[in-house]
Amino acid sequence: MSLNESGKRDGFTSKFGIIAAAAGSAIGLGNIWRFPYVVGESGGGAFLLIYLSFVILLGIPVMLSEFVIGRKAKRNTFGAFKEIAPGTWWPVIGVMGIIAAFVILAFYSTIAGWTLHYVYTSIINGFQGQNTAELTLMFEKFQTSSFLPVFWQLIFIILTAVIILSGVKKGIEKYSKILMPFLLLLLIALSVRSITLPGSFDGLVFLFKPDFSKIDSTVILGALGQAFFSLSIGMGALITYSSYFPSRTNLANTAFEVSIADVIIAILAGIAIFPAMFSLGMQPEQGGAGLIFMVLPNVFMQIPGGYIVSIAFFILLAIAALTSSISIMEVVVAFLVEEFNILRRNATIITAVAAAFVGLFCTLSWGTFENITIGGRNIFDTLDFTASNVLLPLGGLLIVIFVGWYMKYAEVEDEMSNQGALRLKIFGIFRFLVRFIAPVAIAIIFLNAIGII
Ligand code: PHE
Repeated sequence: MSLNESGKRDGFTSKFGIIAAAAGSAIGLGNIWRFPYVVGESGGGAFLLIYLSFVILLGIPVMLSEFVIGRKAKRNTFGAFKEIAPGTWWPVIGVMGIIAAFVILAFYSTIAGWTLHYVYTSIINGFQGQNTAELTLMFEKFQTSSFLPVFWQLIFIILTAVIILSGVKKGIEKYSKILMPFLLLLLIALSVRSITLPGSFDGLVFLFKPDFSKIDSTVILGALGQAFFSLSIGMGALITYSSYFPSRTNLANTAFEVSIADVIIAILAGIAIFPAMFSLGMQPEQGGAGLIFMVLPNVFMQIPGGYIVSIAFFILLAIAALTSSISIMEVVVAFLVEEFNILRRNATIITAVAAAFVGLFCTLSWGTFENITIGGRNIFDTLDFTASNVLLPLGGLLIVIFVGWYMKYAEVEDEMSNQGALRLKIFGIFRFLVRFIAPVAIAIIFLNAIGII
């Protein structure tokens, strides 16, 4: 357990700090890097619609379930299940979550490293005078090289570890609070520029007009994975965070507010990307993991003050990535500290070194290790697929079953209502969703994707 100076368990302080920290975890590369490229590969509007329904019907109930578990148990994601369900196999959910956290940290830091490199490229004015083809080439050259991406990835992992070491309150809360509103403003500005570019309208049509002929079981599983990844749910990041929430926090409101903020940022990223893409004559499925790094520099070049805007954008994106990566690393660190009594410092170092090692293989997936593929996916895509589309939804499935069927009705209601202090109008709906809708829907999506249904 992480102890502060007065020997008490560390925790978040203000209401805004809590929302900022949870939203800081949710809002990150998942919204701005992953969402647009997955939408692009999955055919646009219909995917968006499915994604939104998953956020509302499955995502919010899972998030709220994590909050209930975490704040009730006040332990790491493994310890939480041991605390509420001693002597059972439920802590297995925690083990799965820790594995997922570890894998996500490894590939997340690859993209965060790209972001840092683009901060640097912005500062040295590296996009200036390059056309769309040249900007794409520039990205691909960087992506496939074997030194720079690894270097930046290591810098990012070290930054994450340093914040984790400074403890929960001082570290996470302070960094999350101030900066995210700026990112929102920048995204709005970019969206405005993107939709005013010539020929951009088709991009909006692509994003918002559902074409269900593009939908198959893989796309549906992809929408589920994207929803879970983007909301930071299914692996106990929010169990761990909510274990630091004070008893007066309104869990249901927090889950709503965080989810809405997360969706807004993702859609804004979509509006910033697709119109610009169509205007540049690029195909939506073309970009892959490099999409935003190829498209956005084009947009920056066409904005007054684009030099400053691009620096600011990539810095803010890196910070958004940091406030997410600390929530991922915290899952593993809190587990090591609380379950094995390892010093927080040592737990952080162990986690960072191990993540850097696995992360190296992710980062080199397009260069040195490009020939290593599993079912057509390189190492990076394999790990992303396994964590986002398999481990997170599976974790989420077990979490809702735990809250809906294992925990007692009164226990859950007590926790959600802050021991009766809050009146919960939505408790009935929540209970129905976690007992029936969410588990059945997630199970069907899975069985469908592996071809059983
Ligand atoms: N939700 C984060 C993002 O969108 C990533 C994340 C996934 C964080 C899982 C924690 C747990 O960038």
